[in-house]
Amino acid sequence: MPIILLLILLILVASSAYAANQGAPWVPTKKKDIGRILDFVVMRPGERFFELGCGDARLSIAAEKRYGVKAIGVELSIPQFVAAWIRNRLTKTHVGLVWKNLFKVNLSEADVVYLFLMPETVEKLKPKLLKELKPGARIISYVFPFKDWKPESVLEKTEKDLEVYVYRV
Ligand SMILES: C[S@@+](CC[C@H](N)C(=O)[O-])C[C@H]1O[C@@H](n2cnc3c(N)ncnc32)[C@H](O)[C@@H]1O
Repeated sequence: MPIILLLILLILVASSAYAANQGAPWVPTKKKDIGRILDFVVMRPGERFFELGCGDARLSIAAEKRYGVKAIGVELSIPQFVAAWIRNRLTKTHVGLVWKNLFKVNLSEADVVYLFLMPETVEKLKPKLLKELKPGARIISYVFPFKDWKPESVLEKTEKDLEVYVYRV
């Protein structure tokens, strides 16, 4: 394999491993849970939907298509970011994609924030969410709840489906 290809491959793998270490490895939200989540959390056209650690942006894209929200997907891993970019082009959606550490993104404009991150990352995000989110903003956390925070609503786990927690600031 030419050295340049090997180098590119190494960078992609390293970038993915680094992102995994900074928040969560890439595991997408299950396809059928996307519909469940969007049925459960109704949004208004024009609301700002931030997906922190967006992977291939499937949820942001689905949210834009379903509700006409202005979705912003933040992703640190290069392969996932590229996948999100391609998906966004193919679906002709207008998700704003940001290649950045989610801890460095300003959330003051967000109306809804979506997280599918490791439990320790979810906890680590608390002070930032409290400081930056406006009153009334909603946080959706897939699978992992915030310790000590009371959700406004919960979509319970079933035999086949995973749980979804919704919080309001
Ligand atoms: C569990 S996956 C969820 C992906 C997507 N939100 C979904 O539900 O399908 C977590 C994603 O967050 C990204 N990630 C982890 N830590 C991050 C960080 N500090 N900043 C930005 N992205 C991060 C990972 O690369 C991965 O794509």
